[in-house]
This record gives sequence, C-alpha cells and structure tokens, in this order.
Amino acid sequence: MRTILTVILGISVLLGCFANTWAENASQVKTLERVTQRLVAPPFLPAHEQVAQGPPKVVQVRMVIEEKRMTISPDGATIWAMTFNGSVPGPIVVVHQDDYVELTLVNPTTNTLRHNIDFHAATGALGGGELTHVAPGQEVVLRFKAIKAGVFVYHCAPGGPMIPWHVVSGMNGAIMVLPRDGLRDAEGKPVRYDKAYYIGEQDFYIPKDANGKYKAYPTPIAGLEDMLEVMRTLTPTHVVFNGAVGALTGEHALTAKVGERVLFIHAQANRDSRPHLIGGHADLMWSGGSFKDRPATNLETWFVAGGSAVAALYQFRQPGLYVYLNHNLIEAMLLGAAAHIKVEGVWNNDLMEQIHKPGSIK
Ligand code: CU
Ligand code: CU
Repeated sequence: MRTILTVILGISVLLGCFANTWAENASQVKTLERVTQRLVAPPFLPAHEQVAQGPPKVVQVRMVIEEKRMTISPDGATIWAMTFNGSVPGPIVVVHQDDYVELTLVNPTTNTLRHNIDFHAATGALGGGELTHVAPGQEVVLRFKAIKAGVFVYHCAPGGPMIPWHVVSGMNGAIMVLPRDGLRDAEGKPVRYDKAYYIGEQDFYIPKDANGKYKAYPTPIAGLEDMLEVMRTLTPTHVVFNGAVGALTGEHALTAKVGERVLFIHAQANRDSRPHLIGGHADLMWSGGSFKDRPATNLETWFVAGGSAVAALYQFRQPGLYVYLNHNLIEAMLLGAAAHIKVEGVWNNDLMEQIHKPGSIK
C-alpha cells in the first residue's frame, strides 16, 4: 500500500514539475519581444537578419488560404489551386532557432473546403496539423517554438486522401530556421549570402478528357475523383517551379551578379527532386535542409527528398544565362521544372574560352 502511495505521490510531483515548467515557459513567452513578419510571394524571402539580433522573439505571421483557379502551363492546363496567401508554393517564413512562430491561419468564407497546416519544423500535434483545422469562415492561431535549425516544408494535411490532394493542388510552402549566429561553411567559419531565392517545386496531376484536352471544373471538389485517378498513376502531368511552367524563366528569370553568393532554397512537399545548376555548382549544400550539419561541398547535383527542403549556396564566377533545373531532364524540359538565372558581370577567360568559333572541319 505504502509503495503504491509513494508511486502515486512521485507521479503527481513529477506531473506538477512538468505543469510548472509549461506554465513558466508560457509566461516567459509573454515577456519576449513580438515582431510581425510581412510575408512576400516566392521566389523572394521576407526581410530578415542572417544573424539574430538579441534574444529569441515571437514572430507573428498571417496566412490567408485562397482557393483560386490558376493556369499552370501554356497549353492551357488549369487547376483549382489551394494556396497559402494566393501563391504556389505558399510564402516562406524566416526565423531563427528558438524563436516562436505565431501563425494566424485564415480560411475566408469565399473558400469551399476545410484546411489546416502541418509544419515539419514544429514539434508535436502532427506538426500543428491537429490544432489548425479551419472551415471556411474560421481562423486559428498556432504558436510553436522553432527548435531545429534548417529549411523545412509546411503543407495542408486535412486527413486521408485530402492530404495528397491538397498538397498536389499547391498547398505547401517552406520555412527557414536560421542558426542564431548564422550559417557556417564546411570549415565551421561564418558564411553569409548576398541574396536568397526560394524555389517551390510542384507536381500537378491534371485530368484530361477523351480528346486529350485538360479538363476544368466549376469547383475544387468537382475535380477530386478525376484527379485522384491521375494521382494514383504517380505520373505527374506537370512538374513546375513556383506554380506554373515558365514562372521563373525568360522575363521572370532570377538575377544575380558575378561575385554574389546566392542561397537557393528548394522545397518539394510530395516528390523527390534533384536540383542542378547548369554551368555552376553547389559550393555548399545542407543535406536534408539541416543547418546543424556540416554542409557538403562542390556538388554537381543534389537531392531533395520528397517532403523536405534543401538549401544550397553558390557564388557566381561567370556572367551569362544559367538554367537551374530538376536534373530529371524529362521533368525539366517536358514537364516544366526549370528556372533561369541571368548573371551580370565580366567574363573570365581563364575559367572558359571559346578558342575557335564553330566552322567547317579542316
Ligand atoms: Cu488544404
Ligand atoms: Cu508532411
């Protein structure tokens, strides 16, 4: 009997300790500085410091879910995209390790479906998915502590087949959790980027009619059964960067200058990818997106596991047009997974020179 009482007493003391710790943590959060981060559309990142200034903060962000019809390729394919803040992918959030992310997630009455958000950067409750289900006309506030440094995806996960359907309808994005003292190179020395781009790769599964024309639907739910059928083939009709074929090519090309160090954040919430920069490399690449690990160096092509984001840093040495693509070249050239980077600067003949122009064989 005494043993049982001792055990019960022990457990209640233990629970009391946990409760106290939770209460203390909750009250500590109240004392932290609160800042609002204005999210921007990809491929850009919100204004941020690379090295944290001062102690951890509560970073408030707001995402409004928007179901909208989007054209995703020049051949006229459309989708009822499910979006965070109106873009595919959703906006990237940037914080530092041990900051708190406080998200207000809004599902306006103009939408037709229930949605939520699962942050791979968060701990517990299905990444917050369990605590963020919102029907049209509702909003919810979730706070989580970003205890892991790296780049991570987030996505809608309303349950069952709705999960892949929402994700391949565009409902995913990324968050970058920087180490408080910034990034470090393979030797452990601090390294900074001059600019950063955020590339969300998206696989789409658009149903076709008997004549091979892409079908369009009056509402998102009207297309569900047809799209599930295409999804079950595991063969996407489109694999694109930033929501549409050509979203980052031609006049929408990314830009850089010779000498600039550019951080590329590549997110794929559903499917593996293998980014490659034609004419360049990844000087540094944080495998799996973890900033805690020493970055790999001098890679030609790197890997993004489906359901993750990865960061790669490259210092441009030569001007010209670069193509950044998924080096499954079928997906890049036939399905859309390619971006352009226009790099300005002075050509370096030591790195490359055309000795003879093409001419007849002598
Ligand atoms: Cu959703
Ligand atoms: Cu997930």
